[in-house]
Amino acid sequence: MEENKKISSAVIRRLPRYYRYLGELIESGVQRISSKDLSVRMKVTASQIRQDLNNFGGFGQQGYGYNVKYLYDEIGKILGIDRKHNMIIIGAGNLGRAIVNYTDFEKRGFVICGVFDNNPELKGESIHGIDIMMMDQLADFIHKNDIEIVALTIPKQAAKEIGKQVADAGIKAIWNFAHTDLNLPDDVIVENVHLSESLMRLSYTIANKHS
Ligand code: NAI
Repeated sequence: MEENKKISSAVIRRLPRYYRYLGELIESGVQRISSKDLSVRMKVTASQIRQDLNNFGGFGQQGYGYNVKYLYDEIGKILGIDRKHNMIIIGAGNLGRAIVNYTDFEKRGFVICGVFDNNPELKGESIHGIDIMMMDQLADFIHKNDIEIVALTIPKQAAKEIGKQVADAGIKAIWNFAHTDLNLPDDVIVENVHLSESLMRLSYTIANKHS
């Protein structure tokens, strides 16, 4: 891949889907696939696939198609999931617990190292074998455990302040579930996840299908 080449965010957003399809192909024993066959499975055009993958040097060979395992590994490297990312969860409520209990994140290299909350009643409790810690231990834990990602599953009223706190502790990546913009310095990457926005898009599609 060419160094410093800016890849469009639209392409980056499509890569996890390629990765998932290629993983399924590997599981079913497929070793190579043409962009045409991949396009039929993924319901995108073959030219889109070729264009997307050309951003990274192509990986395909004329008349051969793509080596599925190779392409899968390369996209994994581009997505940075060929290595481990230490992560903590702040907010041990319904959503925080669901994330900790979902073991597939770890299979992708996202290792949940700790869970934090400010409710003293939760002190000493554990979720999926991980102890819930109190907020006064947060900064120290981040430094000692090489934490890269913080998931915020706290109420929106608290999210801005806690976002600032973790940024001050050196965190550069926040997976934000609280329904608010965090307004942090540009070097802190914030990935907002809002299920309700996804539902609203679904609702829009339903409304427009029947109108
Ligand atoms: P919850 O009330 O079950 O859990 C929130 C937890 O955060 C509680 O354990 C509470 O003690 C803790 N907390 C509150 N203030 C804190 C602080 N300053 N520091 C540390 N911990 C603190 O709520 P639930 O259902 O788990 O939702 C959590 C957040 O995620 C809410 O903001 C909710 O709106 C949001 N949410 C977002 C979704 C999305 O798609 N983005 C989906 C579901 C919930």
